Amino acid sequence: MNKNIVILGSQWGDEGKGKIVDLLTDQADAVVRFQGGHNAGHTLVIKGEVTKLSLIPSGILHEGVQSFIGNGVVVSLQALTKEMRMLEERGVPVSERLLISEACPLVLPVHVLIDEAREAQLGKDKIGTTKRGIGPAYEDKIARRAIRIGDLKNPDRFKAKLTRLLEYHNFVLKEYFGVKGVDIVDCYEETLSLAQKITPLIDDVSASLNALRKAGKRIIFEGAQGTLLDVDHGTYPFVTSSNTVASSAATGTGCGPNSIHYVLGITKAYTTRVGEGPFPTELTDDIGELLGSRGKEFGTVTSRKRRCGWFDGVLVRQTIKISGIDGIALTKLDVLDELDEIKMCVEYELDGKKMDYLPAAVEDQIKIKPIYKTFPGWKSSTQGIKNIEALPENAKNYIYALEDFIGTKVSSISTSPEREDTILLENPFEA
Ligand code: GDP
Ligand code: IMO
Ligand code: MG
Repeated sequence: MNKNIVILGSQWGDEGKGKIVDLLTDQADAVVRFQGGHNAGHTLVIKGEVTKLSLIPSGILHEGVQSFIGNGVVVSLQALTKEMRMLEERGVPVSERLLISEACPLVLPVHVLIDEAREAQLGKDKIGTTKRGIGPAYEDKIARRAIRIGDLKNPDRFKAKLTRLLEYHNFVLKEYFGVKGVDIVDCYEETLSLAQKITPLIDDVSASLNALRKAGKRIIFEGAQGTLLDVDHGTYPFVTSSNTVASSAATGTGCGPNSIHYVLGITKAYTTRVGEGPFPTELTDDIGELLGSRGKEFGTVTSRKRRCGWFDGVLVRQTIKISGIDGIALTKLDVLDELDEIKMCVEYELDGKKMDYLPAAVEDQIKIKPIYKTFPGWKSSTQGIKNIEALPENAKNYIYALEDFIGTKVSSISTSPEREDTILLENPFEA
């Protein structure tokens, strides 16, 4: 039987999803993005060559693999065409490998202005968004006024919808936020000009994916962000505006939930978060700095410094349930190589009471005190190790303790940014 897998982040994003999607694409026939937009930043490193992707699926470098952008993704034509050009300049024939759902809502320049104006107005209470207009674009989708990629095929229809949308947003920008709106004619012309490269790629992605399924092909559903940034299940309101959990792979592509056979949760061996919001195991000391510098923890999209902290077992155990994660890919183990000791959060304390889950209210989340279990470090290099036997004893002990605590199999271990530097313990397509 064919197996399709969902690959998603089990923390606050940047777990190394891009690397693992690229690696497993070797065994896949298709890769589809199902939510998010160009707020994502996925890094692939192949024989030293770095490729950074935001909107295009991380399987795009593989010949003979069909990439799709599903209906759940919000698409900026500016970002998409720029990314396509970057890849084409390196000889990747993107147009031959990529198809896009006509139901994808557009992210327009006006959404960026709203995102910026809102963050500025929130001041110290800001979310710390990527300012890519992602939230406002999803709001338009839910408010049933979004312009979808399919609308670009009919300039008159597009013009009417765009005029109505921009009149509304310009009013809000000027009258409520006190900033300049956008020029409707400029936006119309720019969007239609960018659309020329994109409209030939429009596809009924749901139908194509279901045909692939029927033909017994293997599909990777590629998540962006992480489960704790999910708009329902994450650290609300410090979240992104889409559902990042595994079940979103079905709605975001037009496939039934029975298309998913395995959920792989990409999990960093410690924790990071970009932007504001609760972070129980955050380290603001030298160890936090060390994790940041060894792990090169700077945002792929915004270059912001990522906040760093210890591995939070309570959180990951929770996201495993929410996303139905069958196995984890443990990434960035090598970043811990130099530490004398390593801590893992195994319980929380809130107002003097012990608890084993993250409470739903942000007001409680920020008060959480982590309770740690301490492990001895291994103080030797694991970088590039491809075989579990070659790992230092203390590294294996840490991994086994982590596996035991979260109650879910460690399916692979990543020991460097390179595609091949990975210990594969289980094949998710065959598990
Ligand atoms: P994504 O958003 O989940 O795809 O992750 P990002 O690409 O934003 O961030 C992960 C970063 O860690 C990238 O710079 C990767 O090249 C890098 N990376 C991935 N796996 C490993 C690993 O095992 N070790 C090290 N040192 N870096 C890794
Ligand atoms: P990948 O796919 C990490 C965060 C932002 C902010 C919050 C809301 O690379 O893991 P948004 O612009 O989405 O409205 O911002 O979500 N965020 C991410 N953090 N990795 C990402 O993507 C992220 N995409 C959004 O920093 O806190
Ligand atoms: Mg990222």
